[in-house]
Amino acid sequence: MPGPSFDLSAKTALVTGGGSGLGLAMAEGLAAAGAKVVVVGRDKGKLDAAAKTIGAAAAEVCDLLDRAALKPLFERVERAHGPIEILVNNAGIQHRAPVQDFPAEAWDRMIATHLSAPFFLAQLAARGMISRGHGKIINTLSVTSELGRPTIVPYASAKGGLRMLTRGLAVELGPHNIQVNGIAPGYFTTEMNRALIENPEFDAWVKKRTPAGRWGDPSELAGACVFLASPAADYVTGQVIFVDGGFTASM
Ligand SMILES: NC(=O)c1ccc[n+]([C@@H]2O[C@H](COP(=O)([O-])OP(=O)(O)OC[C@H]3O[C@@H](n4cnc5c(N)ncnc54)[C@H](OP(=O)(O)O)[C@@H]3O)[C@@H](O)[C@H]2O)c1
Repeated sequence: MPGPSFDLSAKTALVTGGGSGLGLAMAEGLAAAGAKVVVVGRDKGKLDAAAKTIGAAAAEVCDLLDRAALKPLFERVERAHGPIEILVNNAGIQHRAPVQDFPAEAWDRMIATHLSAPFFLAQLAARGMISRGHGKIINTLSVTSELGRPTIVPYASAKGGLRMLTRGLAVELGPHNIQVNGIAPGYFTTEMNRALIENPEFDAWVKKRTPAGRWGDPSELAGACVFLASPAADYVTGQVIFVDGGFTASM
């Protein structure tokens, strides 16, 4: 019996937020496993540099909040690189404020970025994947998909919704041989967390609260992403892999 295959040769993968942080690390892992990776974001300079570093097939500038831009993005990528067989919904933002002060505009942006964009991208991906009879969708969740924390209620609400989007898509698309899963990172050293890393009190809290005793390095997400994107995970769907140093296992 052949062993499990983690080979992604010749598969096209679209990674949103692939120009930095966790998205870049996952894009790098997918590229190393043989995929033709297209990284998507708003900052062209950052994307081009990322694409060069990891040997990505292309960098595509697209604001995912511009719904009308999503279909042309898919068409452009598929024309140039073939059918998108792997979609990684990873782009994200943060806005911290107490509930009583949280700006309405920031709530809307949080939901649009973490919930609406992944839904509409998954819808576009699903159309092609259904016609071809296979595909992988991977969503970046968070430990806050499960756990509450002050000042980030809208973020956690969106990430909790994304967990259910993952399950719902897995159930509906399962009969078409499309697997939809989530990766839930704990606290990682990325730009999004710069202020927290530089805050000695928060830094100490993360190290104490996380059984591993440290922040995660973005490269530590790549393995879970390659696994979920690969044939080795063809019978894994609707699941969430927590890559959190034991954070959600501990009280
Ligand atoms: N770091 C952590 O500890 C942690 C923990 C749990 C979950 N997460 C999640 O992991 C994901 C990646 O975060 P990160 O930590 O790697 O932060 P990051 O380095 O700030 O990356 C976020 C990425 O999202 C892209 N992005 C944001 N809004 C976008 C939009 N409207 N259109 C296109 N691209 C957009 C950004 O690209 P541009 O700047 O080019 O627009 C950027 O590359 C997020 O979903 C985040 O919520 C992170």
